[in-house]
Amino acid sequence: MKNKNPLLQPFLKWVGGKRQLLPEIRKLVPKKYNSYYEPFLGAGAVLFDLKPKKAVVNDLNEELINCYKAIKEELLDLIKDLKNHKNTSEYFYELRQKDRTAEYGQLTSYQKASRIIYLNKTCFNGLFRVNSQGQFNAPFGRYANPSYLNEPVLTAVRNYLTENDITITNSDFTESLQTAKKGDFVYIDPPYDPISDTASFTGYNLNQFYQNDQRRLKTLVDELNNKGCHILLSNSSTDFIRDLYKDYNIRTIKANRNINSNAEKRGKVDELLIYNYDLEIC
Ligand SMILES: C[S@@+](CC[C@H](N)C(=O)[O-])C[C@H]1O[C@@H](n2cnc3c(N)ncnc32)[C@H](O)[C@@H]1O
Repeated sequence: MKNKNPLLQPFLKWVGGKRQLLPEIRKLVPKKYNSYYEPFLGAGAVLFDLKPKKAVVNDLNEELINCYKAIKEELLDLIKDLKNHKNTSEYFYELRQKDRTAEYGQLTSYQKASRIIYLNKTCFNGLFRVNSQGQFNAPFGRYANPSYLNEPVLTAVRNYLTENDITITNSDFTESLQTAKKGDFVYIDPPYDPISDTASFTGYNLNQFYQNDQRRLKTLVDELNNKGCHILLSNSSTDFIRDLYKDYNIRTIKANRNINSNAEKRGKVDELLIYNYDLEIC
């Protein structure tokens, strides 16, 4: 299946982004469903690929959700602001330190979004990384032509969000799934269970996702399953996750590991796609 609107794509680089896994994910998406739910939205690769007409999408990261809202509601101001940025180290660090100042609270929603899009595209490896105070702390990436102003993509995202019934929320996953009903499709892509102690991910936001959160999520998955929702979940292939979802269908796929800054440690790793429906029927 080809993407019919290639401009509708993630406007941020995001750790755990699902673009490379779309061919595998598409094979498991139910052919028919009512509303679409994505409680851990990130950069939205799956949402933009499926383009549902009715969806409830959510992420706990406030800066991220603010970007979606600014694109939806204030795109012209956002684009104007993005045009003012400069790709120099001095400018990067000046803009980066703004969240350490009182002035930060005075920025408008589109100015905050413009700052995050710029920092995300110009920082090293496109990491959204914050320190213990929630301040952006990834270093300057020294890229020749970072694409922080991509008007066609931002416009395609705005058009999709405004022309369809898309609810965007900023809360913990549990709240965002309260309204899911029988026949809805829920794609769940939580922060992964770390495959080793050193692989434990640092980023996204202050709140880390621990094994207790994975258990909390599993309880909710069981509730959604009982309601009759179609559920597809991604996670790493650890004994803990395999055991937690042992009563569900589990497919193992190969994914590129790309968050390791040491090139030698990058490579293919096993990941899991866990689902609760019969592929012949759905
Ligand atoms: C693996 S990423 C999702 C990647 C996304 N599928 C993509 O293609 O970009 C996990 C996301 O979960 C969010 N997150 C972490 N804890 C959360 C929570 N308790 N509730 C909702 N979202 C959370 C993070 O901010 C992050 O964006």
